[in-house]
Amino acid sequence: MCCNGILLFIGLFFFFAATIYILYQFYSYYIRCRCGNYGPFVSSYGKLKEDMLEESRQFLKKSKKKMKIIDLGCGSGALLLPLAKEFPEHEFIGLEWDIVPLTMGKVKAKMAGLTNIRFVKGDYMKESHADMDLILCYVHKVTGEPLGKKLAKEIKETAVVISEMFPLYHLEEVKQVQSSLLGIPEKYFVYKKPAVAKKTKAVAEKTTATKTKTAKKTTTAKTKIVKKSAK
Ligand SMILES: C[S@@+](CC[C@H](N)C(=O)[O-])C[C@H]1O[C@@H](n2cnc3c(N)ncnc32)[C@H](O)[C@@H]1O
Repeated sequence: MCCNGILLFIGLFFFFAATIYILYQFYSYYIRCRCGNYGPFVSSYGKLKEDMLEESRQFLKKSKKKMKIIDLGCGSGALLLPLAKEFPEHEFIGLEWDIVPLTMGKVKAKMAGLTNIRFVKGDYMKESHADMDLILCYVHKVTGEPLGKKLAKEIKETAVVISEMFPLYHLEEVKQVQSSLLGIPEKYFVYKKPAVAKKTKAVAEKTTATKTKTAKKTTTAKTKIVKKSAK
């Protein structure tokens, strides 16, 4: 009887846990991520996660100055937490709009005693990523177009973007790396700011400088005329 009671309790526990998990996944995919237009909460794992971490490590190891690393849609911090632990000299930011994985990430970071990581609630399409050195993301195929366009415009020339599984557009591709997830071949993509965007920025800066110079010249000429007519 006692044994049956324990089995019933365990069965009920798993039943409720599974129901909550399914309801949450439904909410995450259909409501929060607008029918999958944005990637729902699925944690990075397996070989693909390890390869993403190794790629990030190689980049972070090269730098002597303090770096800013962001994970766009960080989930519960599967990528950021191990990196924050390994690189206490750098600053890590997890940006996530879903309170459930965000809270899980915060709790995990607190339990690990990490002080160089913060989890921020927000929409990565609305926040600026202009001052980031390394940008990680595991988004969705539909998001690759608008997010790539946004990043191409605003990231630093020295910044590196690593995208898990889905390509981003408008950025300059550095490389595609073959990896796998549960034995299925999957890739990750490495990008930097496109040369066209760099050129456009340089041209814009030159135009502004020329305009300022011309404006200064005009003002000086006008002052001279006013002084002459006053005499
Ligand atoms: C596929 S999961 C990746 C989680 C984590 N980066 C990892 O590798 O384990 C994508 C996450 O992005 C979040 N997300 C989707 N669109 C977002 C947006 N526009 N702003 C912030 N977070 C977003 C989802 O809630 C989800 O947790």
